[in-house]
Amino acid sequence: MTRLLHLSDPHFGAVNTAAAEAFLSHARSHAHDFTVLSGDLTMRARRTELEAAYNFVSTIPGPLLLIPGNHDIPATNQPFDRFFRPFRRYSRWFGADLEPVHRTEDFHLVSLNSTRAFGFHADWSEGILSKEQLARCVSLFNQPGGEAFRILTLHHPLLAPPGYNRAVVKPLPDLLQAVDDAKVDLILCGHFHRSQLATAGVLEGWKCVVSQAPTVCSTRLQGEPQGFHEIRFTAAVVEITVWRFIDGSFIPTSTSRFERDEDGWKDCGDFVTDEIAVIPPEETE
Ligand SMILES: [Fe+2]
Ligand SMILES: [Fe+2]
Repeated sequence: MTRLLHLSDPHFGAVNTAAAEAFLSHARSHAHDFTVLSGDLTMRARRTELEAAYNFVSTIPGPLLLIPGNHDIPATNQPFDRFFRPFRRYSRWFGADLEPVHRTEDFHLVSLNSTRAFGFHADWSEGILSKEQLARCVSLFNQPGGEAFRILTLHHPLLAPPGYNRAVVKPLPDLLQAVDDAKVDLILCGHFHRSQLATAGVLEGWKCVVSQAPTVCSTRLQGEPQGFHEIRFTAAVVEITVWRFIDGSFIPTSTSRFERDEDGWKDCGDFVTDEIAVIPPEETE
């Protein structure tokens, strides 16, 4: 099985240092093949935050792919940087490619940048995708020889937790159509700071597995402790273990299993391995 670490939203500038160090200790002591960090590395793309984020990801062993989130661009009180060169600071540390692609014999990983500096919508922290981005994504997955396991990552989520009144990535129907067109196996995202695992897809169409990771080490909690997802997959099976930061260390709290058939991926249930400590929300995203 291929072993993947999925983490998100470390938010350097508002970090629980003990959680960050515990995660790095875990990453060094548990074998994995690849790491994906699905955005919000910082609070406001300040130099000190970007440097701390760079040092953090540089310490994670093995290959890693990361993408920006809505917190990785300057705030609106810095209008020139925000509106004319929003990703300049991020790119200085993490490269100019905001939608990196990674291919191995086992999997093809494509990313989408859903962060927007501004738009004709009220909440600029929301995630937006263009038709051109989705067409490129489908084209990349459907290139000849692309039979490997297909993974898509973006910062903004597809699913809202029950009772959670915040927008998911837009336009969701178009994204799900792209998932169907490209037969995507697994989507990795973050943003809500809530762990959620599910399948998603168009009606009567292909279903993919969705891994929405919580914040790995920030103090910006949304009703649950820091955590990350450890994903093990083959062409036919995906298993995802949720690790939580409880009493000073990360422990596995549940594992979910998904199996593939001709219509895509099916949720085959999960089992809780420990009680999940519930922490009251401290502030909104
Ligand atoms: Fe975040
Ligand atoms: Fe975010």
